[in-house]
Amino acid sequence: MSDYKGKTAVISGGAEGIGFGIALAMGQQGMNLVLGDIDEVQLVEAQAKLEAQGIEVLTVKMDVTDPAQWRLLGEQALQRFGKVHMLVNNAGVASAPGPIEKTNHKDWNWVIDVNLKGVIYGAEAIVPLIKEHGEGGWVINVASMAGMIGVPYAGAYTATKVAVVGMSEAWNVELAKHNIDVSVLCPAFVKTRIHLSHRNRQQEHFDEQRKVDPDAEPKHNAAQEFVENGIAAELVGQRVVEALNAKELYIFTHPAQREVVQQRSKAIDEAFERAQNSPLLAEVTEQSPMIFD
Ligand SMILES: NC(=O)c1ccc[n+]([C@@H]2O[C@H](COP(=O)([O-])OP(=O)(O)OC[C@H]3O[C@@H](n4cnc5c(N)ncnc54)[C@H](O)[C@@H]3O)[C@@H](O)[C@H]2O)c1
Repeated sequence: MSDYKGKTAVISGGAEGIGFGIALAMGQQGMNLVLGDIDEVQLVEAQAKLEAQGIEVLTVKMDVTDPAQWRLLGEQALQRFGKVHMLVNNAGVASAPGPIEKTNHKDWNWVIDVNLKGVIYGAEAIVPLIKEHGEGGWVINVASMAGMIGVPYAGAYTATKVAVVGMSEAWNVELAKHNIDVSVLCPAFVKTRIHLSHRNRQQEHFDEQRKVDPDAEPKHNAAQEFVENGIAAELVGQRVVEALNAKELYIFTHPAQREVVQQRSKAIDEAFERAQNSPLLAEVTEQSPMIFD
């Protein structure tokens, strides 16, 4: 029997894009789905597409930046399906890229609220539900290649994705004793509507000074072309299943990016080499390494 059949996945931002791709793949494995998303119209469409494939779906309009809405999502998932086994922290947004001094605090707060706090609140509300039944499960956090390498002119986005990678590494060790596998998905470009993230920008994150409204926000930015030529979200969903079966902590979808990460690792290793050779640090280097298990 499949590991997934009859179990329940809660997926944030599951109405479209990568979240929907993962929903479809997990549904095809026999999972029940609970999709939380801020976009009610897309939720209705997603539900119809999944139900047409015989997949059980509950959709809930919610905003990941509100812990109370996460708790409600958990309660609704339990009411409908009895247990929760998987959390996919996927909802995320990207603000228009720009230099440091042009990235205003409204942009920083919006991106941090959705991409970072949304993941924290999701884990806070849903992980206890997975722990509770003792059958184990999965947490999948959707980061990005921006979690592996800093992206110029996208400091806010990079900051949140690096944080998501770090939290995933921490939770991977922390939740192992509960038989909960934690993975972090780090794609490069995927063909979605992420370059139009402003469509979902909440009222409190509008920038009055710039007279920002969802329709007036920039619809074209440097990343658009890359996103439009990105890989299919459905393929990402299938890759997630493959990687979960192999219990991978880091899930990659773009093999060509390996070189970028290797360069970063090499630069870090060389910096350690210099520290190790520094006479100033001769005694410090005698300390034992921080290895957690
Ligand atoms: N598309 C890419 O190239 C790419 C690459 C790497 C990582 N990612 C990450 O993948 C994840 C999904 O992005 P996508 O590319 O599918 O984008 P998308 O814009 O197509 O989908 C995002 C989904 O999240 C929902 N959402 C947005 N704000 C929300 C909120 N506050 N509360 C609840 N739902 C909300 C949207 O309605 C939408 O359904 C994000 O975390 C993103 O950072 C995307």
